[in-house]
Amino acid sequence: MLPAYLPNPVAALCGGGTPIDSGRTFSDGRRLFGDGKTWRGLVLGILAGLLIGLVQMGAAGAYGLDFLPRQTLLSVTLLAAGALLGDLAKSFFKRRLGKERGSKWPVADQYDLVAGAFLLLLVLDPAWLFAEVTAASFICILVLTPILHRAVNIIGYRIKVKEVPW
Ligand code: CTP
Ligand code: MG
Repeated sequence: MLPAYLPNPVAALCGGGTPIDSGRTFSDGRRLFGDGKTWRGLVLGILAGLLIGLVQMGAAGAYGLDFLPRQTLLSVTLLAAGALLGDLAKSFFKRRLGKERGSKWPVADQYDLVAGAFLLLLVLDPAWLFAEVTAASFICILVLTPILHRAVNIIGYRIKVKEVPW
């Protein structure tokens, strides 16, 4: 999950600049995604996920970590891109519900990256998904993700990278 977990904090650290929606609004008059979703965050976040995935692939090859899921270039790409596309999709629906940037949306805020990453894998690389991710590890992911999400966001808030601790 590292290639899926890393993009969000990296986007928070390195994001900013031109919003992906360039300020455009949807038919409801609200922003498409909002100012919290920027090109820089998206690109640098995905690159960070790719990088950690390449490190995983290198480490698995060098140390024979056969007990771990075997990452491929495709799995790493789908995990990293899926995480931030899930985050982007969540913001789209958040705006449709009239929720402001940075507002809380429990469950969706925690699981957007998991939903995005697994949806991309399911559609574009189901063979890898079913071969490498067991039901037990999927349950672990569901349990650990909100805990990690909360912990990282509290750190982000304390170091003033995030405006809110969620
Ligand atoms: N970020 C970014 N580009 C992205 C995703 C995140 O620049 N594609 C940066 C933004 O500075 C954002 C911060 O990371 O404010 C935290 O991300 P997140 O919590 O996902 O965004 P919010 O500001 O809470 O916006 P939203 O309500 O749309 O989730
Ligand atoms: Mg948020």
